[in-house]
Amino acid sequence: MKLCIIGTGYVGLVSGTCFADLGNDVICVDKDLNKIEKLKNGIIPIYEPGLEELVKKNFKSKRLNFSTSLIDSVSQSDIVFICVGTPTKKKNNVADLNQIFNVAKKIRNSISRFKIIITKSTVPVTTGDKIEKILLRKKQKKLFSVVSNPEFLREGEAIRDFLYPDRVIIGTKDNKTNKILKNLYSPLISKGAKYINTSRRAAELIKYASNAFLATKITFINEIANLCEKIDIDVEDISIGIGLDKRIGGRFLRPGPAYGGSCFPKDTRAIVNMAKQFKTNLSLIKSVIRSNENRSNIMLNRLSKILKNKFKNKLICFLGVTFKANTDDMRESSSLKMMPFLSKKGSKINYFDPTGKKTEFNKLKNVSYVKNIKIALKNVDLVIIHTEWNDFKSLNFKTLIKKKNFIIYDMRNLYSPAKMKKDKIKYFGVGR
Ligand code: UDX
Repeated sequence: MKLCIIGTGYVGLVSGTCFADLGNDVICVDKDLNKIEKLKNGIIPIYEPGLEELVKKNFKSKRLNFSTSLIDSVSQSDIVFICVGTPTKKKNNVADLNQIFNVAKKIRNSISRFKIIITKSTVPVTTGDKIEKILLRKKQKKLFSVVSNPEFLREGEAIRDFLYPDRVIIGTKDNKTNKILKNLYSPLISKGAKYINTSRRAAELIKYASNAFLATKITFINEIANLCEKIDIDVEDISIGIGLDKRIGGRFLRPGPAYGGSCFPKDTRAIVNMAKQFKTNLSLIKSVIRSNENRSNIMLNRLSKILKNKFKNKLICFLGVTFKANTDDMRESSSLKMMPFLSKKGSKINYFDPTGKKTEFNKLKNVSYVKNIKIALKNVDLVIIHTEWNDFKSLNFKTLIKKKNFIIYDMRNLYSPAKMKKDKIKYFGVGR
């Protein structure tokens, strides 16, 4: 089929490229000419393992193309995916839909035959209704249908998550549209993905509810980890012990330094505000937001105890500063709270990240990026393992660190406390 993807961020570029790889003709549109030119030359603006090769392969086979012309691209397509950003408005934590509505206004001038208009961006419930009103102004309803088809891609795993989704959610009550989309997704359904057709509003809410639940699950195990630290239990035993219950499931039960990224923090705030507009109080998700925002303080309090409040001139090495492994994304990473705190306390901080130096730390005193792990670790008093890159999983600290009494604060529980004890290394994990 002929697809038009509007917006070439994570969602748009991954979705467009994967749809092309499944045999569709795809044109990805962005208003940023510089970005489009780079994409045409195989330069990918985002860090996503495997994406560069897939873009180049499909661009070469002419199934995938890039353009800045929205009108032309829409008019030659059967299905249009809206994948533009829905950032959170700082003042009231509500999703900013200006980009979505601007695109809808442009689309309405290029519908001359039946088209399916799909929102893949995460949008508040009833956004599809508003898009329909914008399109309806000039066109008869029969010329288009507006569908919600949320994505569930994780940064760093986006291609795999697109090609092997647990489910495809299609929010439309139009039978003709549903049939067309079931055909579009048939390659994924034949590989085991469940195809769920529901109302548009339900599909919009499923996305928010999914992210809010996953954020809740992570916060739950983070709080259980706090308890485990007080009663000398290893939280990993709890994660395994409860995760084997099929009603709970073992995934997303890894404690860490707080969830970050561009989605969980944004979507938890957005669903709470959306519910407020419908006079509903999502008190549980509100408490998840508060608990997660406070998590860095809990981690830093523990660090203060570990260092006996002696931060001054301590040499600390941060391994990984992004919000998780396999991404270069710093959005709402807990390192953005921890590094300034330690810098203010007078510690000297090296940091190493496989995705390179971060501008976010440029203004911090005594903080420097070291592009080699060995050099970053050489004379440190404390190692903070902040993300779970494979690069950090089998380090021989005793040979790498030239100091005698160094400490490891493993915020991702990558190492075994028993092994650390056997090697006589002072080790702290999370929830253990
Ligand atoms: C998330 C959702 O997983 C995805 O379905 C949605 O489309 C976008 O938002 P993403 O934010 O890319 O994806 O990353 P994810 O892997 O979900 O991790 C989010 C945060 O939770 C990270 O900070 C991660 O470190 C943390 N996390 C995740 C944990 O602390 N413990 C876990 O067990 C899993």
